[in-house]
Amino acid sequence: MPGMLSLAGGLPAPDLFPAEELAAVVDEVMRDSARAALQYGPVAGVPAMRECIADRAGETGAPTEPGQVLITSGSQQGLDLLARALLAAGDRVVLDDPSYLGAVQTFRAAHAELVPIPGDEDGMDTEVLAARLRRGTRCRLVYVVPHFHNPTGGVLGPERRRHLAQLAEHYGFLIVEDDPYADLAFDGARLPSVDRHTDRVVRLLSLSKTLCPGFRVAGLRGSPELIGTLAAVKQNADLQTNTFGQHVLSRLLLRPRFLPRHLSRLRRHYHARARRLAGLLTDRLPWLAFQMPRGGLFFWCTITSGVDATELWRACVASGVAVVPGPPFCVERDGTANLRLSYATLTEEEATEAVDRLAVTHAGLTGSRGAAG
Ligand SMILES: Cc1ncc(COP(=O)(O)O)c(C=O)c1O
Repeated sequence: MPGMLSLAGGLPAPDLFPAEELAAVVDEVMRDSARAALQYGPVAGVPAMRECIADRAGETGAPTEPGQVLITSGSQQGLDLLARALLAAGDRVVLDDPSYLGAVQTFRAAHAELVPIPGDEDGMDTEVLAARLRRGTRCRLVYVVPHFHNPTGGVLGPERRRHLAQLAEHYGFLIVEDDPYADLAFDGARLPSVDRHTDRVVRLLSLSKTLCPGFRVAGLRGSPELIGTLAAVKQNADLQTNTFGQHVLSRLLLRPRFLPRHLSRLRRHYHARARRLAGLLTDRLPWLAFQMPRGGLFFWCTITSGVDATELWRACVASGVAVVPGPPFCVERDGTANLRLSYATLTEEEATEAVDRLAVTHAGLTGSRGAAG
């Protein structure tokens, strides 16, 4: 719909893409290494890109060699390769409830049995998981989004990271740590990867929210054996990830002062946008409860007026504002009172208008029932 304002998408803010730096690097790549950058490349990734991801993985987790890295077409492909290589029909996958929809869909497509575990702002409740395991539930994978979870915004706490690692060692499952939002911590702080406690971890290191999603270049960190297995599956899927994108992004990441400066700009702007949306929601939508996120892109909200999230979503679309209702993220729990809102992409005027439309739409629904707004 023309004029639609979106609080819905999981898109990073395009005005925060490092476009100028990328333009300069694209020129350099075409000048210095066009023949290699436009050619087919190795299945597991261009060596410089594997080194960049290995360095990033090592800075935030266990020491990592480039041979422990597979370059994938986004972390979404990493999930897909893991599901294809490791899951047989009926295998169990433990995950947060609610969870990232792309992961839920991938595991469902592999005919896995999903085992949802509740959580809170400190992420998955590992005590609940431990009790399920003690009672005999066995699983192949445990999937977590350890920083600024999509959709809840939770951060898996240090104790729970340690506990999860112990459970993985004891029960022999693999932890999939999908961590695209870690660089968007408003205070710049991040917790070390669970792979500091156990090597039963596969890390998905997306660059989509850190740099930009358009090149579809991400890294997956795992044991060399697993990387070999996944590379064989990847070869059948797409031969390799975009060579040109790998040349460009690795060159950008190798610029010594680029990343710290870029990340501090991202954090400053996202934090300001989150504060702005929090102010608007508090002022205009008293029927919406939320916690101020500590990073990432989302507010996970609870509708306290009794209006159903899906009904509100439908009415919102008709009024020119997009939101995401809770149910699609939920495996078992009830998401009918939840909304996910993104603060990333709207300007101040657009955000104000979007929240106004949300307020009017909600008033229309409650008004028609004679309830207070
Ligand atoms: C938790 C999570 N994992 C993976 C992805 C996909 O990342 P990529 O763009 O690297 O495929 C997203 C995108 O929104 C996400 O929220």
